[in-house]
Amino acid sequence: MTQTTTRMMKWDNMRRVYVYSVPTRIFHWLNVLAILTLILTGYVIGNPPALMSNKEASFGYWFGTIRFIHFVAAIIFVLNFIFRIYISFAGNKYENWRSFLPVSKRFWKSFWQALKLDIFQMKGKEMIIIGHNPLASFTYFILFIVFIFQIISGFGMYAAMSDKAIYQAFVWIVPLMGGDAAVRFWHHMATWFFVIFSMFHVYLVFYHDSVEGRGMLSSMAGGWKFFKKDIYLKKEN
Ligand code: HEM
Ligand code: HEM
Repeated sequence: MTQTTTRMMKWDNMRRVYVYSVPTRIFHWLNVLAILTLILTGYVIGNPPALMSNKEASFGYWFGTIRFIHFVAAIIFVLNFIFRIYISFAGNKYENWRSFLPVSKRFWKSFWQALKLDIFQMKGKEMIIIGHNPLASFTYFILFIVFIFQIISGFGMYAAMSDKAIYQAFVWIVPLMGGDAAVRFWHHMATWFFVIFSMFHVYLVFYHDSVEGRGMLSSMAGGWKFFKKDIYLKKEN
């Protein structure tokens, strides 16, 4: 099909599919906001600038404020992640936990196909997938594991700062991981994973949206993706 005919494709030959429900979209954007805040405040905590001021020392509490913002964002991040786990049982089939688990043969077949087309830019059959493609699902699966690591290591460090039972439940993490410096180091490294993931993720979302023209970018805003009717029906049956 030429680009001109693609541009003029008639609406009556298309079907719109509701892929991401409101809870998933809320999860996504709250997660983006929390992670950006955690990366920025975490970066300052790890590399504190030596600011000088002639104010009374007790008025200069900016670093405490940065840490406070980190902890508030951390709580929002954790609760939001728990919310996503709930959606993966209660949500629609595109949001279901099964779509993230790299267990079936079919999953790996489509995974390699997506890798060839998207990353290595090789020629191949066009992939029509309604939810996340398996390459994307796999990266989200790894991302969720790193989320769990970041939460455990974060609460492990926080346990030294609070007597509350909920934080004390994580007190064993720091000795297990080789001490405070080691936990900080790995918490810091995981942060770079989020930065690199985000760069690839945003690039690929824009790439798919422009190459396929199925509304991928806006699917995380309005929930809808668009498919030719015959392709959609074939996929569903
Ligand atoms: C996306 C998630 C997160 C990111 C990107 C992130 C990032 C960071 C970074 C870069 C640091 C500085 C480490 C260093 O070099 O010393 C840090 C410190 C810290 N983070 Fe996180 N963090 C995240 C989640 C959490 C969570 C869920 C908690 C749980 C309470 C947490 C608690 C802490 C604590 C206690 C510190 C040490 C603060 C201090 O000693 O002043 N973080 N974080
Ligand atoms: C402006 C920036 C961003 C845009 C436009 C964007 C857009 C999207 C879109 C369109 C999808 C659905 C893709 C598909 O159908 O496979 C998606 C999924 C996802 N994105 Fe983003 N994203 C952004 C930033 C981020 C960041 C910073 C993170 C986390 C570090 C993130 C984490 C995720 C996750 C976990 C999913 C899977 C959603 C789910 O099923 O729960 N995104 N994103």
